[in-house]
Amino acid sequence: MAGQISFEAPRGMRDFYPSDMVWRNKVFDAFRAAGEAAGFQPYDSCVVESYDLLARKAGEEVGEQIYHFFDKSERHIALRPEMTPTLARMVAQKQKELSFPIKWTTIAQCFRYERMTKGRKREHYQWNIDIVGEDSVLAEVEVIGAACDALRRMGLSSADFKVHVSSRRLLGEVLERSGVPAEKHSQVFLALDKRGKMPDSEISAMLADGGLASDLIAKVFEILSLSDIQAVRAYLGEELASSSKALADLAELFSLAEIAGFADCLMFDIGVIRGLSYYTGIVFECFDTKGEFRAVFGGGRYDNLLTTIGGEPTGAVGLGFGDVVVTELLKARLGENAVSSRKGVAVGFMMDEQRSAAVKLASRLRAEGEVVDLSLRAQKPKKFFSRADSSLAAKAVFLGPDDVESGFAKVKDLETREEVRICLT
Ligand code: HAM
Repeated sequence: MAGQISFEAPRGMRDFYPSDMVWRNKVFDAFRAAGEAAGFQPYDSCVVESYDLLARKAGEEVGEQIYHFFDKSERHIALRPEMTPTLARMVAQKQKELSFPIKWTTIAQCFRYERMTKGRKREHYQWNIDIVGEDSVLAEVEVIGAACDALRRMGLSSADFKVHVSSRRLLGEVLERSGVPAEKHSQVFLALDKRGKMPDSEISAMLADGGLASDLIAKVFEILSLSDIQAVRAYLGEELASSSKALADLAELFSLAEIAGFADCLMFDIGVIRGLSYYTGIVFECFDTKGEFRAVFGGGRYDNLLTTIGGEPTGAVGLGFGDVVVTELLKARLGENAVSSRKGVAVGFMMDEQRSAAVKLASRLRAEGEVVDLSLRAQKPKKFFSRADSSLAAKAVFLGPDDVESGFAKVKDLETREEVRICLT
């Protein structure tokens, strides 16, 4: 005899009940509106990708977390853990036809076989906005500005979140200045990206395993205490600082954000590294100001990804903004009941004799643009109103024999319990 099938979704996968969809829609609506407002064009692709495109061997977590399998023709395929390699593939495929810079956006379902912690699931939706084919730092400003706009549209302000901004190139220059050789930089980036997720002692051990002498490890931690751009400038010394393009780009980003009106959402944080190996320049990650949740979104400049997969050299910048953490943050800051799901009218009837009148009324209200949840069978009033109360409807009309005979019925507001008369003919 077959065993009982579990009612749980597979571990780490999510079911969205109607009450969850209300939140998901709120978040997706803000993603779409902010993307559209900033002129990003929608694109999409299949959640199944070729394994070779997604697998990277830089020791980064995402590369190790891929769900992959062989299809019936022994093709090695995978569920995408992120959208960026697919975007790079799609751009490379049409590189001659596209007119750059392109600004593209999508909400991609992604899968990562990762340890489940708060804010991390094995399946999530990730809003992506990317600008491909632009070297100017205005691309970063546009991308970060759109993400801040999405958060504002959801009801949060700069008091609730901050986008921590740094630059891998700048960190590289500072490391170089401290004597950490360039070939060790990617190892240092990977180790530092674990900060906050593991104790500093383990990070030191990782750096030592990577062949870094103890005096250099101490310098790496000293660098992390540089708390603003001025401190970095001083550390580099005037000569290096004034010739640093990375420093100039960062300063320009902050000044353009000021003009664009969202500088209050930004802060410099040299500790932002980003776990993905393809970032080359400015990197950023958004956190809630109380430090309660994991990163809300993250992204940066990745100028070499297209060449890595065989395309022409093309500068790019973008971000991924997941739905999981932001929904937790919204519930915490705005309250579990912040999204009013109630809309439309529930229409019910007492006996089969009133069914036609109910169908007619429902059709008329729908033609007028109203959302109508029509009862499918005759019901006692108590049962009808109790279901209507626990449904998504804002109002309810119940037709009994007297209503049909008189040609009038009462529409009840389910929140205020007020009633208004409507004509049935
Ligand atoms: P990422 O930092 O790996 O970047 O992910 C971006 C965001 O996706 C995270 O900040 C978080 O909101 C969400 N996220 C990631 N993994 C999970 C998970 N397991 N559960 C829930 N949410 C998650 C990227 O994926 C880059 N491809 C972003 C990008 C786009 N860079 C340039 N363009």
